[in-house]
Amino acid sequence: MSRIRVWDLPIRLFHWLLVFSFIATWLTEDNDRYLDFHVFFGYLFIGLLLFRLIWGIVGSHYARFAQFHYGFKAIRDYSKSLFSSHPQHFVGHNPAGSLAIFAIISLGLIVAVSGLLTLGGEEQHGVFAGLFSFAEGEIFHEIHEISAWLLLGVVGVHIAGVVVSSFLHRENLVRSMVTGYKMTETEQPSVNLHITVAILLLTILLISSGFYFQGYFTQTPDKPYLPFVGPQLASNETWQSECSDCHLAYHPSLLPSRSWQRIFKEQSEHFGDDLALDEETLTELGNFAINYAAETEVTEIAWKINHTVPLHDIPLRITETTYWKKQHHEIEDIIWQQQNVNSKANCSACHLDAKQGTFEDGAMRIPELID
Ligand code: HEC
Ligand code: HEC
Repeated sequence: MSRIRVWDLPIRLFHWLLVFSFIATWLTEDNDRYLDFHVFFGYLFIGLLLFRLIWGIVGSHYARFAQFHYGFKAIRDYSKSLFSSHPQHFVGHNPAGSLAIFAIISLGLIVAVSGLLTLGGEEQHGVFAGLFSFAEGEIFHEIHEISAWLLLGVVGVHIAGVVVSSFLHRENLVRSMVTGYKMTETEQPSVNLHITVAILLLTILLISSGFYFQGYFTQTPDKPYLPFVGPQLASNETWQSECSDCHLAYHPSLLPSRSWQRIFKEQSEHFGDDLALDEETLTELGNFAINYAAETEVTEIAWKINHTVPLHDIPLRITETTYWKKQHHEIEDIIWQQQNVNSKANCSACHLDAKQGTFEDGAMRIPELID
């Protein structure tokens, strides 16, 4: 038996970085506050897969797809041999491992591309921003989720395969993916370490993450970094001055135009206050509100409000729409009651871009509890 290097350094780096990015995307998938991290790990994931495709052609011996054994016959013979006293042993990837790699790369690409399409449609960010509607984004989102679960399944099968064949051949496959070495009976040369390629990969990763996250290093307490900046929405000076005395001047895209009409019609009984607006101001505010109401679907929230408020319903409050309630039902009462929030209508206590009306995921910060 001799000990030879089977996995070059780039392959091992690829493997463990892929594991890391896969776990990291799952951990950041639930909370939209960390969408920028989720997207970063997604970019890392897709970058690694693309590297693997190239390395499968130009990489060292065992990394090359041409070395994989994955034909029907190879798989049949390998599976049969698993139940014999002498299971077939492969120095590089065995047929099951080869299949797992193809499945992970192709499913991984589907997950990553559908993720980018979701980002483009639902959030209007990333390379596909502006090319797809919110509705199309939701379809991509479905594909993204389903393919991610399928990928999780394939990864599970792959791990099970690694455990089983490690026992069958009495070799620790996980360790060899760390050290690069395997024991072999036949005389085979070790592969080159390819240390320059590995250093190049790490350098690209370091520079691009520094570039991507630079806002977090340069932010100040009064100018916090907002990872995704939404579109510049239409604004109006009269609106800003008339509606910001008692609360945030809610952007018109947060309610359908019929709601604004009702708010102006009932202006003398505005939540216990009389707005006392004259005819001219009313006309100007009314026009602005109707021209830029939720029906314009300029942002995700506008689109969601416009699609979820029933046509016969004329809500006076954003905070009473089903969409708003669904987004906020997990927030505990104690948070609403604390003095730096005080009211559900005080959007800017938690949404740093509330004034712009964009309500980007990454701009949300729950204020700290004060004793
Ligand atoms: C004199 C004070 C005052 C002014 C000026 C005022 N509002 Fe209000 N508004 C209120 C109060 C009080 C509430 C209830 C806030 C709460 O529940 O915390 C409210 C709530 C609202 C809400 C519902 C918020 C929610 O819960 O979703 C909307 C929409 C709204 N105002 C629109 C406007 C617009 C548009 C203007 C400008 C034309 C305006 N307000 C000007 C006092 C005012
Ligand atoms: C106490 C803090 C707080 C206040 C006040 C608040 N929100 Fe939120 N908002 C949140 C949290 C937390 C989420 C959930 C984020 C998540 O699930 O990732 C959220 C989510 C949202 C979302 C969904 C974002 C997305 O794309 O997923 C919108 C839109 C939104 N809020 C609008 C509003 C508006 C409009 C107001 C004021 C009428 C408001 N919020 C007031 C904390 C708050």
